[in-house]
Amino acid sequence: MCGIVGYIGTQTAVTILVSGLERLEYRGYDSAGIATVLEGEIHCVRAKGKLYNLREKIEQDINPANIGIGHTRWATHGKPEEHNAHPHRDMSGRVAVVQNGIIENHQALREELIAKGYKFQSETDTEVIPHLIADLMKQDNDDDGLLIAVREAVHRLEGAFAIAVICADYPDEIIVARQQAPLVIGFGQGEFFCASDVTALVPHTNAVLAMENGEIARLTPLGVELYNFAGKRLKKMPRTLDWNPTTVEKHGFRHFMIKEIYEQPNVIRTCLEAYINPTWNEQNTDLNPINLGLFDLLDDIDHVQILACGTSWHASLIGKYLIEQLANIPTVVQYASEFRYAPSPITTNTLTIGVTQSGETADTIAALETEKQRRLALPREYRPRLLGITNRPESTLSYMVDQIINTQAGIEIGVAATKSFIAQLMGFYLLALDLAYRRQTLSLEQIYRIVEGLHHLPRQIETILEKQEKHIEDLAHEFNDTQDFIFVGRGINFPIALEGALKLKEISYIHAEGYPAGEMKHGPIALLDSKVPVVAIALPGKVYDKVLSNAQEAKARDARLIGVVAMNDLEATHIFNDLLSVPEVDELLSPIIAVIPLQLLAYHIAARRGLDVDQPRNLAKSVTVE
Ligand code: F6R
Repeated sequence: MCGIVGYIGTQTAVTILVSGLERLEYRGYDSAGIATVLEGEIHCVRAKGKLYNLREKIEQDINPANIGIGHTRWATHGKPEEHNAHPHRDMSGRVAVVQNGIIENHQALREELIAKGYKFQSETDTEVIPHLIADLMKQDNDDDGLLIAVREAVHRLEGAFAIAVICADYPDEIIVARQQAPLVIGFGQGEFFCASDVTALVPHTNAVLAMENGEIARLTPLGVELYNFAGKRLKKMPRTLDWNPTTVEKHGFRHFMIKEIYEQPNVIRTCLEAYINPTWNEQNTDLNPINLGLFDLLDDIDHVQILACGTSWHASLIGKYLIEQLANIPTVVQYASEFRYAPSPITTNTLTIGVTQSGETADTIAALETEKQRRLALPREYRPRLLGITNRPESTLSYMVDQIINTQAGIEIGVAATKSFIAQLMGFYLLALDLAYRRQTLSLEQIYRIVEGLHHLPRQIETILEKQEKHIEDLAHEFNDTQDFIFVGRGINFPIALEGALKLKEISYIHAEGYPAGEMKHGPIALLDSKVPVVAIALPGKVYDKVLSNAQEAKARDARLIGVVAMNDLEATHIFNDLLSVPEVDELLSPIIAVIPLQLLAYHIAARRGLDVDQPRNLAKSVTVE
């Protein structure tokens, strides 16, 4: 949520800042701005709305400064207007600050500063920071004046924040600080960068240092000095990212979302290649087929609890199904935002899994921290065991858990999660199989069959993309005026009904609900009439007949019925008005297949309505506020 970027070196800062903001725009897109230092003055340009508004303004006045900071905003305090856009400056206009996060005590600080005569221009929480720094700098104006003032200022701030600060009186330095919001530093040759996310850095450098909470750094053209908030100098080496800048390009696709939908077969292939032992076969009984590298983290587990939000929570529900059904371990799934304030009772030998595509979701990180802290002082059988499932191995999550499963999906740019969801599901299949092998709850032959099925999935998804996309695009045109949708599924596909509904509502703004098909008659069926389409996931398996009966009940209320069904399912052709046909797979693997047509349906309905599919209103890709 909100993206910040900074540059100091020999190149034109404006160009680097704007291209960095382009790569961070998925984090927030209500307004944007940059500030540079040139000839002893701060130059600040801000614009309401998408980044192109800022770019238009800047093109009229590109300045050659070699230092600057930039921001793309997801509004928390104050409407998305230009006067609330970052950077924010102090009254003299000599200090400029960008911030990602929330300053929880901003009201008290604002009142204190107003009492001292400071005048505020915005309604944001951030604006207290430049005034505070300016106030503290008056008292200390030597070579380290800015560094010291920022350090003293961060001690006064409560909440979660990452900030970057420049000052006209210190034209060769950017001060950055991190407390519970992501911030990375990039190391180039005689130039240094900072950003909320490595995506903004990869065109320039692969050498990055992820700052930790309570750290502050000074970036100059000569290097980076890192300190803790107490002022102690820290020595840390950057790590080299194995990243290719072209992963964040559209490559001819109209939107990132559809590109990422098409990437899914390869995400599964990469995941299998990374985690299935290549020499394993059914006869090779002494070798665990799954190689997640989790070692003793998975030994003697009595319970699993999974913490996540949104789409990651949906993936977790399927994870629970798999862990319980394949490995026979009782598993609970909690919304991270609820768990933080009402954690469930402590159980013994519990594996806690945090699932997040961004690796930065504030609620998920805080829920994991709550879990860790409350277990630290307890006896051995209660010790915290934290596992992360993410596609962002360089994220905050990765630093705070014992181990991660890197789902190999790489960065996802479209705000609607697609490939990261499929990859999280793959993480859960592999984890459940790993546990099943260790606990011998499945025979080797059963494991072999499931692994074989996983290997067929990429080709089966390609078949859906090849054979169904055009049909789904045409079908999407028929819902131009539709205002409500219902999605139903049962068993392992109930979470897919939730996911289908979430995908549709978040990018098309159509009201959509997902229900377990059997629950319709307990209330939601009252919503049905000829204007409310019902999408039912009716794939072969133990709940197939039940879903068909529930679908018939909806049809009897005049609902238009759309079925996600197996190819060649003749019975389905008699029941459903429209078919989204997919290859037949084992029920256990069917969520990975069933979600593909639902992603395509949501995409084409939104694209047909001319909506901003990749950056839907009010949302952000990385939700770093509570
Ligand atoms: C929906 C979506 C969100 C995220 C949620 C959690 O398409 O992307 O619901 O799933 O904000 O985000 P992460 O997975 O980054 O923790």
